[in-house]
Amino acid sequence: MAEHNDVKKINETAGYQRTIAEHKRTIAEQERTIAEQERTIAEQERTIAEHKERIDIEKKKVIEISEVVEQTSMLLSRVMELRDPYTKGHSEHVGEIAVNFVTLNPLLNFPKEKIPMIYRAALLHDIGKIGISEQVLNKPTKLTEAELVMIKYHTNLGYNLIKSFLFDKLVGDAILYHHENFDGSGYPEGLKGNEIPLIARIFRIADYYDALTSSRPYRPALEPEVALRIMKGDSRCFDPNLFSFFVESIEHITKKASVPSEVPNARN
Ligand SMILES: [Fe+2]
Repeated sequence: MAEHNDVKKINETAGYQRTIAEHKRTIAEQERTIAEQERTIAEQERTIAEHKERIDIEKKKVIEISEVVEQTSMLLSRVMELRDPYTKGHSEHVGEIAVNFVTLNPLLNFPKEKIPMIYRAALLHDIGKIGISEQVLNKPTKLTEAELVMIKYHTNLGYNLIKSFLFDKLVGDAILYHHENFDGSGYPEGLKGNEIPLIARIFRIADYYDALTSSRPYRPALEPEVALRIMKGDSRCFDPNLFSFFVESIEHITKKASVPSEVPNARN
């Protein structure tokens, strides 16, 4: 009986030892798995860090390009104003009015990231005037038919100048269509109503208002109330909803606007 108990104990001990050995193997395997997982996590962290670095570099490049484009747009706008001194500051004013217009009107649901583009579009909207003779641009008396045709060509000329550069479509639309009238009587294509891109319908109002309230070779600057009266009399030019909003909010719309930079968070 004692012998039987001894054998039983030996067997039990051997069983425990096997179980312990198995546990040890399992623990060793788990440790290997954990070590592998740690390596994988470390690799993923390295990959994330590399991606982040690449994204930061790309963001920096976008900012640099954006700043160059901004400065080039400003330079071109100044060059144009040298040829047509009466329009000095006009492009900036149109930009400020248009930026206020979209930021103050929530119904337009204008994408926030496109707001800096509006200002750029404004700086360049009359860029085609670079190709128009100074005598015609600054003529203090009534323009002939041929001179009018020449002046009207500044929209196509401007668009052709910038179309091969990397500008947002909005900039091209503003340059090409800012003289289209809502009733279809404008140029260059005689577009009507909503066929005219939103940005061009906004610019039509901003451009018209700033032209009237600035001095010209053929007349002094008009008072805002007089300008509004003239615009109301020529309302066929404007999108009626946008024009009503402009009339209602004119005091705020014509204030100096703060134009956000293109990639606001990437500077940090
Ligand atoms: Fe124009």
